Amino acid sequence: MIFETVATGGCRSYVIGCEETCAAALIDPELSQIDRYFALAARDGLRIHYLVDTHTHADHFSATQQLAHQLGVPVVMHAASPAPFVNLRLQGGEQLAIGRLRLQALHTPGHTRDSMCLCVEDRIFTGDTLLIGATGRTDLPSGDAGALFESLFEGVLKLDPALKVFPAHEYKGRSHSTIGQELAENPRLQNRDRGAFIEMMHSLNLAMPTHVTEALRTNMTGGKTVAQMLSEAAAIVPFMSLGELRARLESGKDELTVLDVRERDSFEEGHIAGARLLPRGQLELRVNQELTDPTRRILVYCEFGRISTLATATLRQLGFHGAVALDGGMKAWREAGYPVNAGKEP
Ligand SMILES: [Fe+2]
Repeated sequence: MIFETVATGGCRSYVIGCEETCAAALIDPELSQIDRYFALAARDGLRIHYLVDTHTHADHFSATQQLAHQLGVPVVMHAASPAPFVNLRLQGGEQLAIGRLRLQALHTPGHTRDSMCLCVEDRIFTGDTLLIGATGRTDLPSGDAGALFESLFEGVLKLDPALKVFPAHEYKGRSHSTIGQELAENPRLQNRDRGAFIEMMHSLNLAMPTHVTEALRTNMTGGKTVAQMLSEAAAIVPFMSLGELRARLESGKDELTVLDVRERDSFEEGHIAGARLLPRGQLELRVNQELTDPTRRILVYCEFGRISTLATATLRQLGFHGAVALDGGMKAWREAGYPVNAGKEP
């Protein structure tokens, strides 16, 4: 078996591949690692056939949906997954054939209702059901401490003690453990009374994961993250540096329309000399009156350089092929000590 671990902060995703056939699956892929998965698959001569999420993640952005578009292969989750874009819904006891490998699903609700663990050969991918020295939390949507107790003590922990455990999270850099090790050492598994386990899980008082709302929204609906919207826009626009813009303005040539897409009060507090105001919220409504020459070079800026990227992408889609985004925003311009004008538009 070809096997790779990809760590994204504390999140783990895995590539498993069949050596004989070059078929592969990705388990819990993360959005920011898409290029890495392709690179690993290419390096090892693998073709990815399945994109598997062990559960609906609340703490990272799943790449399954985007990879499914790019590769034309199915997104696999447990049948209880709420996500509408899942193509292949597994039930406990079912297997995926990855070349000669067999990836066997075990339904393990508790961390979420749709959690599953996946066994292949000598290892088990435990998602957030069983972590090294811990368990997944049960206080997020569809979590259930009682169900987790059953999934662990009636399911995962009854498997071969030599089975290697590869969780979806690991914060201390350990590559894996085993079922036997977890039974012996995992502090959350030492009291095997159901009531005590539930009480312990309820008393953990964990902080909410960062981006929980956005992660649940995008992972459950297949919608885009804000970062994805921005990077898609950034991929189709050119940028101009602060220094380049300053030099061009100082040259005095009238070759550039500088467009401020912030709100009026921000503009009046301080803007780049000669800029015109067209708030992004009014862009499509006023573009025909304000920007009459589609061949004109238009430099777009905002406060931080993100909204201007979106606005520039919109302008280019509208046919303003000379639209360019400032690399940075008014904040960076001020911090660079470049000249700022205050007051209304002339
Ligand atoms: Fe999770």
